[in-house]
Amino acid sequence: MARIISLEEVKKHRRKSSVWIIIHNDVYDVTNFLTEHPGGEDSLLDVAGKDGSREFEDVGHSDDARELLKKYKIGSLNPEDRISVVLPCSKLKWALLALAGALVVGIVLKKYLGSK
Ligand code: HEM
Repeated sequence: MARIISLEEVKKHRRKSSVWIIIHNDVYDVTNFLTEHPGGEDSLLDVAGKDGSREFEDVGHSDDARELLKKYKIGSLNPEDRISVVLPCSKLKWALLALAGALVVGIVLKKYLGSK
C-alpha cells in the first residue's frame, strides 16, 4: 500500500538537501533527480515542498517523463490535505466565474433596459 503523507510533512522538504513535490496528489522525492532534470534544478526547487501539478502540466512533459515519475514516487498525499488544497481553489474559481458572469449579464441588461 502507498505511504500516506501529510502536506505538513511535504512542506518540510523544500531545501536542496531534500526536495519533495506533489504532482496530482502523489508525492515525489526528487532530491536525486535535481541535477538530472532536463528542465534544470531551479524549476523543481520552485515547487519544492508544495504542489507542482500545474507547473508539471504547463511544460507538456512527454510520456517518458511521466514514466520517470514512477521512479521517484514515495507515497500519496493525505486525502484530507487533498480536499483542503484542491477543492477550495476550484470552488473559488467557479464562484468568481459565476460572479463575473452575473456582472456581465447585469451590465448588458442595464444598458439594454436603460436605452428603451
Ligand atoms: C518529478 C517530476 C519531474 C520529472 C520526472 C520531470 C522530467 C522531465 C523530463 C524527462 C524532461 C525532458 C523532456 C520530456 O521528456 O518531457 C523534462 C523537461 C522539462 N521539465 Fe521536467 N520533470 C519534472 C518536474 C518538472 C516541474 C515541476 C517543472 C516546473 C516547471 C519542470 C519543468 C521542465 C521544463 C521547463 C522542461 C523543458 C526543458 C527543455 O526542453 O529545455 N519539470 N522534465
